[in-house]
Order: sequence, then structure tokens, then C-alpha cells
Amino acid sequence: MVTKKIEQALNKQIELEASSSQYYLAMASWAENNGLSGVAAFFYQHSDEERMHMLKLIKYLNERGGKAIIPALKQPPKDFKSLQYAFDNLLKHEVMVSNEINKLVDDCLKEKDYTTHNFLQWYVSEQIEEEALARTILDKLNLIGNDKGGLYLFDRDLQNISVQSAAADNAGGKK
Ligand code: FEO
Repeated sequence: MVTKKIEQALNKQIELEASSSQYYLAMASWAENNGLSGVAAFFYQHSDEERMHMLKLIKYLNERGGKAIIPALKQPPKDFKSLQYAFDNLLKHEVMVSNEINKLVDDCLKEKDYTTHNFLQWYVSEQIEEEALARTILDKLNLIGNDKGGLYLFDRDLQNISVQSAAADNAGGKK
């Protein structure tokens, strides 16, 4: 059984994962409308992953005697001024999510909720991967600068990353 405090904290995280999914969906749609099909595939895939993060939390909270609340969400931005800007925001957003997960882990220790603490370790590892991936992509973008040929290859690379990531998810690698 989770305490009220942990129930509230998990519901806050459910909302954050849901809004992350919407945010990346907005980036995917923007990229698709700008001819960047690989970047779009990457963000569509990332949006799906965030939804899966949200679902895991909903199911866990309900299983532990809490009540998961499905949140209303704010509309994400319609436009992103550049690829650099979009990926910069991806990294900033993931760093913020990592901080929130850390606070949640800390709440669990304070409440002596070792079961939820254990459950959240999956999210701690996931955040390390997500931040590292965002940094790697930003480094690539910085190398490319304004080179059109480089951008073509970058878009193709992101398509490949998305295909591999989807295959890993289907094989149960991320769940
Ligand atoms: Fe679910 Fe990217 O944090």
C-alpha cells in the first residue's frame, strides 16, 4: 500500500511522463512537416516510450492500492525554430525529468516505501540512457553545423536509431 504522499508524487510523475509524450509528439509532427522523416521517426518512437513510462506508473500505482489519475495536458509548442533547438530542449527536458525521478526516490526513502523505491530504479537507469542519447545526438548536430550533406546523413542515422529502438522494445528489451 502506498502512502498519500507517494500516491501524489507518483501521480505528478504520471503527468510529467504524459506531457513528455505530448511534447515529443509535437516535435515529431514538426519534423515530419519539415521533410525530416528520420528525425520524425525518432520523436514518434520517443513519444511512444514516454507513454509506456506513464502506463507503467499507472499500473504500478493502481496495483499498490493507490488511485492513478489520468491528467489533462497543456498543448505543446507547434513550432521549433531549428533542429538544434529541438534537441537542446530534448536534453533539458530529460535532465528535468531525471531531477524529478530523483526527488521521487528521495520521497520513497523518507516514507520508508522500499517497494516503490525498488520499482523506481528502472526509471533511474532509463534516465541515464535517455540523457546520454540526447547528448550524443546534440554532439553530432554540433559537428554537422550547416552542412546539408551532413544533415541528410544525420536524418538517416536517426531513422536507424528509431528502427533499432523499436525492435528492442518489441523484443522486451526496454520493458
Ligand atoms: Fe520518461 Fe524521457 O523520461
